[in-house]
Amino acid sequence: MNTIELENITKAKSFLKSAQRVFVLTGAGVSAESGVPTFRGGGGAPVWRGMPFEQLSSAQMVEKDLPLVWEWFDYRRGLVCKCEPNAAHKTLAKVQQSGWFAEFSLVTQNIDGLHQTAGADDVIELHGSLWQARCLSCKTKQNLRDIPEDERPPVCPECLDSMRPDVILFGEAMPMQAVYQAQEKAENCDVCFVIGTSSLVYPAAGLPLIAKQNGAKIIEINPEETLLSTQADFSLRGKAAEILPLIFAEENPPNLRLPDDKIVKSAANQNRNEKRIEDRENSSTSENPLQNDQQLKSNFMTSETHPLRVSFLKSEEFPVLNKLGLTFAPGKKQRGALSLFIRLLLD
Ligand code: OAD
Repeated sequence: MNTIELENITKAKSFLKSAQRVFVLTGAGVSAESGVPTFRGGGGAPVWRGMPFEQLSSAQMVEKDLPLVWEWFDYRRGLVCKCEPNAAHKTLAKVQQSGWFAEFSLVTQNIDGLHQTAGADDVIELHGSLWQARCLSCKTKQNLRDIPEDERPPVCPECLDSMRPDVILFGEAMPMQAVYQAQEKAENCDVCFVIGTSSLVYPAAGLPLIAKQNGAKIIEINPEETLLSTQADFSLRGKAAEILPLIFAEENPPNLRLPDDKIVKSAANQNRNEKRIEDRENSSTSENPLQNDQQLKSNFMTSETHPLRVSFLKSEEFPVLNKLGLTFAPGKKQRGALSLFIRLLLD
């Protein structure tokens, strides 16, 4: 570890000394040291039986060939079963349990369940879970550990229709409850860690921007530069499993009480989020296609300059995107146009 990284670790610790609410967003990179492959980087997109990831993990495939979708997710679960939580998962779980901070929120894009295996609670899973099935009709959820492996597709215990993996697939709307919960946590944090994500997929990629707009310090942990890097207060260039234990090593930050005004603000946000969910449920859902990785990549590549430097969506625009059920990773032009369009709508 070089001097800059050591200085940045000291800086991270100093931010944490006065922090009361800490928000952590993780992506595939946090599980890389456990042996779970990331989506981008490391040579080529995942392919199984000659089919690309975005075709297998798509809403169309659920309609066309549900047993194949189950086979694919059972295969992925089989791989994850062999993986153990690494030092990054364990450190985050330890800090959460320690009560060092008034609030320590853990939001993940991962579906592998390794944060929970490491002992973390109340993990907000933005993209669902490999360990859960959901009924196609009545949406009842069931833990896959309670369903025999040869029952595929599993039968819903409530309405007897087929169940599907409870994960977000390409071409589907986001789970709004999880998104709003995560936004509320991001709005109210003092320090936001962004760990092991390429920051390409929205709405997850927008959460640190919401935190920043509300005054939080942003610390990125990633061996590579990402779209977020220029927005972060600083980036720690290295592996999460090596860096996190150093940040949260010895002298534990004190468990500070929240000032009353923050508690009031948080309660107001909670009410607002409940209202948003209610509105969303009452409105007709239009499902917009989730962009596939190829599009994400080309949007990224074709941006002439860094999209985040030019214009990024404002936090009040995210609910509008969410209402449209939109998960996306826009390039500079789309981002600017969308932002303008939504601002006009909001005005
Ligand atoms: P990506 O695969 O896009 O990015 C992984 C990031 O982790 C990269 O920026 C790597 O540089 C970084 N990384 C690799 N090893 C690391 C390590 N040891 N420590 C820290 N960082 C490391 O994964 P996500 O950003 O999570 O969505 O991808 C977001 C979403 O795209 C996924 O949840 C998935 C995919 O489409 C769905 O399936 C809906």
